[in-house]
Amino acid sequence: MDRIRIGGGTPLNGRIRISGAKNAALPLLTATLLTAKTVRLRNLPNVADIKLMTALLEQHGSEVEHHESPEYGLDASYTTAKITSTTAPYDLVRKMRASVLVLGPLVAREGNATVSLPGGCAIGTRPVDIHLTALETMGAKIELEEGYIHAVAPDGLKGAEVVFPMVSVGATENILMAAALADGETVMRNSAKEPEIVDLGECLKKMGAKIEGLGSDTIRVQGVAELGGADHTVVADRIEAGSFAMAAGISDGDVVLEGVDAELLGSVIDAMAEAGIDVTPVEGGLQVRRNGGALVGVDVMTDPFPGFPTDMQAQMMAMMSVAKGASMITESIFENRFMHVPELMRMGANINVHGGSAMVRGVDTLTGAPVMATDLRASMSLVLAALIAEGDTIIDRVYHLDRGYERLEDKLAGCGADIERLREPA
Ligand code: EPZ
Repeated sequence: MDRIRIGGGTPLNGRIRISGAKNAALPLLTATLLTAKTVRLRNLPNVADIKLMTALLEQHGSEVEHHESPEYGLDASYTTAKITSTTAPYDLVRKMRASVLVLGPLVAREGNATVSLPGGCAIGTRPVDIHLTALETMGAKIELEEGYIHAVAPDGLKGAEVVFPMVSVGATENILMAAALADGETVMRNSAKEPEIVDLGECLKKMGAKIEGLGSDTIRVQGVAELGGADHTVVADRIEAGSFAMAAGISDGDVVLEGVDAELLGSVIDAMAEAGIDVTPVEGGLQVRRNGGALVGVDVMTDPFPGFPTDMQAQMMAMMSVAKGASMITESIFENRFMHVPELMRMGANINVHGGSAMVRGVDTLTGAPVMATDLRASMSLVLAALIAEGDTIIDRVYHLDRGYERLEDKLAGCGADIERLREPA
């Protein structure tokens, strides 16, 4: 397994190109199953999860044509003239929970789907009951058997009023895609408002879907009989941008994040400003630098968009571990998303967890140590801590980072970081 070595202490200075959003690209890829026509997706991030999702689509019958890509990202066309299999097997789904997003498109287009239940993961139990109940409301019959979801709708899905009992990004995406091909109107209440859902909806509209209310909690979809092709550019990755913004801030650097708008990062920019870091719009992106001296402790609580993202909680904690004063970080989305805490403590952080909250008391210095990545964002928090730790940090299990950050070492090294990948001998 590859590892990453980071020598701490160099402020980051320079420019970083922000890639397309992994969490927009994954549902967009599954949306290509809704049509027999070609959907071209530009600005896909070149990360492991996109390759996995592409493999899943190919196994459902998609043909993929790669176009010449710029320095970062992928540009590819997906054509699924015929769905050759409506089964998403355990072997692929267990590697990536977002695979469950093929469920809505497959049932909507083919009237049936058999999708492995994803199971738990490092950040919590993460059930999919909300996706299933919503599909049932639209007329699907669902059975769970031997670890698989069997969904059938022989006469097609019917438009319905779907009220989500809690805000779920994935359920909103699955039902948005299913409703696009359902018979009649679907009204989705208590929908998630994440920019990635808006991006999915915009692409569906280019494919001919009739959708209103994207970005609000009530989305209305008038089903159509079939969808066509589209050419769509994936929205910028706000979590990658936020992660690099915090890398610039924690290292006391000065970095321009290219290709991302401030609107995507509202609550993160607010929390960073309170902590002593300015994120300001400049030509072509956002400039990040401290607005005075030291970092200061601030309290944050994760919430669905437009609240502070759970996907930035670990990185915020790394930053708060070297701030002046204390910070209370509360995780309200996932029940087990503090796996980075013991690793940060091995580097000298002072953190106490009580239930869903972590009390972080800032320390003057962190020290490099061998640490273990546990999930994608936890790994990024270790990278941030390593950037300012004294000495070398070796991060193990780098495959977590490779799932969602495109060429992380190149982007950080381009701004002066002392970082290298230690490749496992073949
Ligand atoms: C998406 O996951 C993201 N993944 C996650 O990104 C992100 O952390 C999460 O949204 C929250 O923002 C993708 O977009 C591919 P949810 P998702 O359904 O859709 C509970 C990353 O690091 N729930 O909004 O799976 C669930 O357990 C990641 O890139 C149910 O109880 O998240 C959680 O507590 C990891 N039943 C809460 O809702 C359900 O049927 C929110 O989950 C569905 C969800």
